[in-house]
Amino acid sequence: MKQVLFSNEEFNEALERLNKLMRDAEEISNVDHKVLLYNVLQYFDSIHREPLSRIMSALGHHPDLKRNIVQDETVQKLCALYDLELESAPTENSGTIGFIPVGDVGMMTPRKQKDWLELGNYEELENLKLYPKNYEKVNFIISRVGSDVFAVQNQCDGSVLPIDKGTLEDHVLICPWHGCKYDLKTGKEMNGSDKRLETFPVEIEDTGLLKVEIAY
Ligand code: FES
Repeated sequence: MKQVLFSNEEFNEALERLNKLMRDAEEISNVDHKVLLYNVLQYFDSIHREPLSRIMSALGHHPDLKRNIVQDETVQKLCALYDLELESAPTENSGTIGFIPVGDVGMMTPRKQKDWLELGNYEELENLKLYPKNYEKVNFIISRVGSDVFAVQNQCDGSVLPIDKGTLEDHVLICPWHGCKYDLKTGKEMNGSDKRLETFPVEIEDTGLLKVEIAY
């Protein structure tokens, strides 16, 4: 495809620089800054992923355009960045563009390690407030409900959207995007669907020290 803004080489250089910046970001020692950065990236990801997914889906109705687009190196790399997998050999007649469901992508990277994190005294947490956290690329939320504390993944099931701007009614977490309700005790969606949030083990020591076990 014709170069529009910069060449393939320049695109690859930009990708390499981005990779380097992401590696540098991994080294940020201030946890609050790191969580803020991951949240910003997660929202950027979400607002790009949805229209990109729609564009790629709509291409199914325009085979000529699709053929051109899926052969372009920069498009292929962008799709790879967003975990969108193009079928490798688009053909004249069939050539549909297929995606790996985002949920499956997550499962492709088996978690191997577990760590107990110490997150301060649980009494310092405001009741019914959602606190986004990040550890080893795992985005999760902790929230206190009375004398209990829960930890769940910070991503609505079946979506890439973070859920930490949702609301809590007792131990029910309401997703800010389309209103799914999850039981923090089990992670299960309240209406009996298959949706669920991953839950993480929580312990509160006699001193009030809050510990959460994160698998990554
Ligand atoms: S993204 Fe949570 S209900 Fe749709």
